[in-house]
Amino acid sequence: MKLVLASNNKHKLEEMRAILGNDIEILSLSDINCHDEIPEEQDTIEGNAMQKARYIHDNFGVDCFADDTGLEVECLGGEPGVYSARYAGEHPTFADNIAKLLANMEGKENRKARFRTAIALILNGEEHIFEGEVNGQIIKEFRGHNGFGYDPVFLPDGFEETFAELPAEIKNKISHRGNAAKKLAEYLNKLHKK
Ligand code: IMP
Repeated sequence: MKLVLASNNKHKLEEMRAILGNDIEILSLSDINCHDEIPEEQDTIEGNAMQKARYIHDNFGVDCFADDTGLEVECLGGEPGVYSARYAGEHPTFADNIAKLLANMEGKENRKARFRTAIALILNGEEHIFEGEVNGQIIKEFRGHNGFGYDPVFLPDGFEETFAELPAEIKNKISHRGNAAKKLAEYLNKLHKK
């Protein structure tokens, strides 16, 4: 089975290939000669994931999937959520976004947060959504150099290391995206065995 992932992010492609296994060939956007800016204008991660998958399905006629992630911080009423990538402006660095997050959380005792990922799959014209999450805390200082995004300040429940201190194999096993991807893999593997 061949599936296009609506992304050119090498990190995501590798992670998805590792989770989905050898029976499913994952192609990138460059592999199908798509160099478009894919629209993501919805106000939920589920909406954005589906918008990206529909764009690829409608314009390229292929089976495909797309993911979207948000960091939801309890004391900020779920912010930055779907706006996690653009929290500190139009093209912020990861450090800009973290600085804004820590500033907004200054003095707050409740540090609870979760990452949520939605994966939208369009297979044989049918739409499906798979979701994954991981709970944790936002710490007050940067720790670690692995990963990306908010990883240096996210301490997953049950661990003493931030996502940026944990090796990628461990992060992928417990992460929001890993959990959503496992559900996608289970679904696809069941179909494959039928
Ligand atoms: P995307 O939907 O995967 O592009 O994620 C949106 C934003 O959420 C990214 O720009 C990051 O800031 C943040 N994010 C997504 N996944 C992770 C993660 O695994 N660790 C830390 N931050 C993440």
